[in-house]
Amino acid sequence: MKIGVVGCGNISGIYLTNIGGLFKNIEVAGVCDLIPEKAEDRSKTFGGLRIYRDMYEIFADPEVDIVLNITRPNDHYGVTKAALLAGKNVYSEKPLATNMEDARELVALAKERGLTLGGAPDTFMGAGIQTCRRLIDEGRIGKIVGACAHMLGRGPEGWHPDPEFFYKKGGGPMLDMGPYYTTCFVNLLGRAEWVTAFGGISFPERTIGSEPHRGERIKVEVDTFATGAIRFASGAIASLTVSFDTYAERGSYIEVFGERGSILVPDPNTFGGPVKMLTPGKGYEEIPLDRGFTQNSRALGLSDMADAMANGRLHRANSMQQLHVLDIMTAFARSSKANAPVEITSPFERQPAVDPDRICGTY
Ligand SMILES: NC(=O)c1ccc[n+]([C@@H]2O[C@H](COP(=O)([O-])OP(=O)(O)OC[C@H]3O[C@@H](n4cnc5c(N)ncnc54)[C@H](O)[C@@H]3O)[C@@H](O)[C@H]2O)c1
Repeated sequence: MKIGVVGCGNISGIYLTNIGGLFKNIEVAGVCDLIPEKAEDRSKTFGGLRIYRDMYEIFADPEVDIVLNITRPNDHYGVTKAALLAGKNVYSEKPLATNMEDARELVALAKERGLTLGGAPDTFMGAGIQTCRRLIDEGRIGKIVGACAHMLGRGPEGWHPDPEFFYKKGGGPMLDMGPYYTTCFVNLLGRAEWVTAFGGISFPERTIGSEPHRGERIKVEVDTFATGAIRFASGAIASLTVSFDTYAERGSYIEVFGERGSILVPDPNTFGGPVKMLTPGKGYEEIPLDRGFTQNSRALGLSDMADAMANGRLHRANSMQQLHVLDIMTAFARSSKANAPVEITSPFERQPAVDPDRICGTY
């Protein structure tokens, strides 16, 4: 299937490498960016890709099967909506939208038009988390009682060239990094039912430490420290803390606890390991990864979506999952504001594990 790429920023390189490279069932039709030099640079780097004038030229091209929306979070809704209205299937970077109202509208629009919608993250399909899922599904640690996770850092303004959006509405550690953690949770623990959380802004103003905006100040509009608990339909309970306000040596941590042991899950912003399983009396042992995709395989979810469209099945990184994950993430702020638990009402069904004998896009 042919992919029209909207957005030629930081993340575009790995997509353009993997589409047609790692994944043979998809190929790039062309690229566009609001800043023409960025599209020209990508075209040159990747062997003379076609450059579309703008996203509307992509939408008008009958050759394009799927629009890849890799713009920034605040632009996701507008680009995805315009593509759907033009009759195109869409795969979007995370999150689907920055609020539930917009996200629900996109899901309804895709359904009404008979179009396929999905998107990142797809790291849950990688070897690390899929190996954890196999261990859980095989009952190796028994019934799951709960999980713990955190993503801790001091924020991206020290290194990111244009970090303001991380601190504005639609940003924050939850919408930026939370998708990896919550998507991992729902793939390992199933549908979420309740969230209760607290959040806050520890530093109302941030100073950019990177070029070209060094020294400029950012007024913080979103919670930069959020902590809460999620209750799953299975009865399992998980804690999640995300922050741009902390110095922490161990910035990423997820552990799933079962009645007969625990699994240390790898960083969900990666595709590989290590996976470690603790059994009482034996301590932690490293479990070999027996699934595909240990390296940066971004576009794996897109390849799976193209394959699903060709074979009449639901893809794994689908919009039901994106909506459910956004519901959980935004529930943190809703709960904190209301000082009360919030019910998660969006539906969710886990899709089949990635079959190691049917490697996406290469079969
Ligand atoms: N940068 C990363 O390491 C990273 C990692 C994982 C996921 N992501 C996600 O990928 C997405 C993009 O991130 P990025 O870092 O590449 O951002 P970026 O700001 O570097 O790039 C976004 C690009 O989209 C372009 N754009 C915006 N609206 C457009 C439109 N209507 N038509 C054409 N071009 C348009 C912008 O001009 C810009 O060049 C975000 O959702 C982010 O959360 C980024």
